[in-house]
Formats: sequence, C-alpha cells, structure tokens
Amino acid sequence: MVMKKGIWSLLALTMALSAAAVMPAYATDDELGNAENNYRLYCTSCHGPNGDGKGELAEMMEVPPRDHTDASKMSKRTDEQLFMTISEGGEATGFNSCMPPHNTILQKEDIRSMVKYLRKLCKCNYTK
Ligand code: HEC
Repeated sequence: MVMKKGIWSLLALTMALSAAAVMPAYATDDELGNAENNYRLYCTSCHGPNGDGKGELAEMMEVPPRDHTDASKMSKRTDEQLFMTISEGGEATGFNSCMPPHNTILQKEDIRSMVKYLRKLCKCNYTK
C-alpha cells in the first residue's frame, strides 16, 4: 500500500515537472510577479515606484530616467532593444550610461520577464 502511494506521488511529480517544461518561457503570471518584484528592487530607485521616471535618484541623473509608462516612446523599441538596454546598460544601446547594466544581477529569463513587465507598464507593444 505504502509502495503504491509512493509510485503515484512520483508520477504526479513527473507530470508536474513536464508540464512546467512546456510552459511558455515568459508569459506566466508567476514570472510577471517575479518581474514586478525585481522592478521594485532594482529599477524603482530611478524609474519610480510607478515606472513613470520619478524615482528618488532621478534628480541625480544626467538625463531623466525613462518614463516606462510613456507608450509613445516605449512603442518605438523592440523587445530585443529593451532586453539589450536592461542587460548591457544604456551605453550599449546609445543611451546614457546612468542606465546601469543588469546582466550580473538578473538571469536572462528574469530580463525577458522584465521586458514583459515594461510592456505592461506602457500598455504598448513595438509599433515602429
Ligand atoms: C541608477 C539609475 C537607474 C536604474 C537603477 C535603472 N535605470 Fe533604466 N534608465 C536610467 C536612465 C537615466 C535612463 C535614460 C537613459 C537615456 O535616456 O539616455 C534609463 C533608461 C532605461 C531604458 C531605455 C528606455 C528606452 O527608451 O528604450 C530601459 C528599458 C530601462 N532604463 C529599464 C530599466 C530597468 C528594467 C531597470 C531595473 C532592472 C532600470 N532601468 C534601472 C536609469 C536607471
């Protein structure tokens, strides 16, 4: 009896794991939740708690931190550009170096979900 139960829970675990493996890479609410947390930890000091560019450190920046709720600007960027700026920093994509690189503190998957989160903040997608 105990043995049988063991097999069933093993089977359940295997199924849960394979279900996780086929989930889309960054579209789940879980991952967005994570991004929101990361945003609060790593981005709001400059970009503001609401993402509107009014963080505590904003005044110390040479150029104002991007207002991530500004769809007119944010819709001009591809997801790849946003990814690159977050990962490699502003200088890598022609922006000011006040925007720091995050590739040593955030995993690639986290940066991908962060791009999703930015799309949620601006309520926009890339439209040229
Ligand atoms: C130390 C302050 C600072 C921190 C921390 C910071 N940023 Fe920035 N960020 C800036 C500034 C300043 C700019 C504007 C650079 C420019 O316009 O040349 C910017 C620009 C950007 C851009 C480019 C916007 C565009 O128009 O393409 C993105 C994307 C961005 N930040 C995302 C983030 C994310 C996500 C985080 C957190 C992981 C973050 N930033 C953390 C200061 C910061």
